[in-house]
Amino acid sequence: MNNIKLIIGASGQIGTELTLYLRQIHGNSSVIASDIREGNIELMQSGSFELLDATDKNSIKTIIEKYHVSEVYLMAAMLSVTAEEHPKKAWDLNMNSLLHILELAKEGMVKKVFWPSSIAVFGKSTPHINTPQKTIMEPTTVYGISKLAGERWCAYYKNKYNVDIRSIRYPGIISWKTKPGGGTTDYAVEIYHKALSKGSYDCFLAKDTRLPMMYMDDAVAATVKLMSADLPKTYISYNISAINFTPNEIAKSIQLHIPNFEISYSPDFRQEIADSWPESINDSQAKKDWNWKPVFSLEKMTTIMLESLEKRNVKR
Ligand code: SER
Repeated sequence: MNNIKLIIGASGQIGTELTLYLRQIHGNSSVIASDIREGNIELMQSGSFELLDATDKNSIKTIIEKYHVSEVYLMAAMLSVTAEEHPKKAWDLNMNSLLHILELAKEGMVKKVFWPSSIAVFGKSTPHINTPQKTIMEPTTVYGISKLAGERWCAYYKNKYNVDIRSIRYPGIISWKTKPGGGTTDYAVEIYHKALSKGSYDCFLAKDTRLPMMYMDDAVAATVKLMSADLPKTYISYNISAINFTPNEIAKSIQLHIPNFEISYSPDFRQEIADSWPESINDSQAKKDWNWKPVFSLEKMTTIMLESLEKRNVKR
């Protein structure tokens, strides 16, 4: 029997590309997309789609039964900026969706679960440079608190009920196909769009704010690799690292292609969130346990982002 995968939050930034990639490898009929809203045309037309509220356990259960799902990728979440605006709603979504899936896995309804954590689990008191896998974690954002609590729930279900739950602490993810929504690292996607449409960008973070980032293809590849790896018994939400840069540095990489591109800085409330997060991440544990290796540099990513966005806009 086919190993059916269900993506919850499939219309979102990472969910869309993860779904399309999994459909490419495993076949369209093996990957069921679900979200509270419809996704882009490619996602909607390439396979089954179900409207689903990730906080509704019965509806999740119905879909799992309908398609005989054995793997769940829980990508639905409220990101850092939106979560500050709706703390209670963010907590409900980020926590309840996870607890529902963990319960269903405990009941034997699904065999394997992927759940993304984030660099937002770290806080001001965490060492910001080369942040270790195991370190002080005192997040100050609602999003970070929900991700840290989620990590502990995952560890609990793994230790107590032997649930096969796997997790990565994603950095800021950059892609040309889908836009992020409500995150602190969103500037690193917006900047490419504005560079092409306006030739300038007013950044909501300060010039030298360094944050860990990753091109989407690396993030999707990491997720797929982790899900098929033979892992040690203890639960770990893995640090993974690819690139890190400041708004000034990404602007310079754009200027190599668009010499007249101009950047200005108007840091707002999002600056405080960025200041509480690491600048760079130590991912030696992921390298050791499942051979994680990124491919995309800042220069390579900038070239692909600008070329792909330009091509798409010309086509329209
Ligand atoms: N990209 C996320 C955010 O900015 C971090 O996980 O909220």
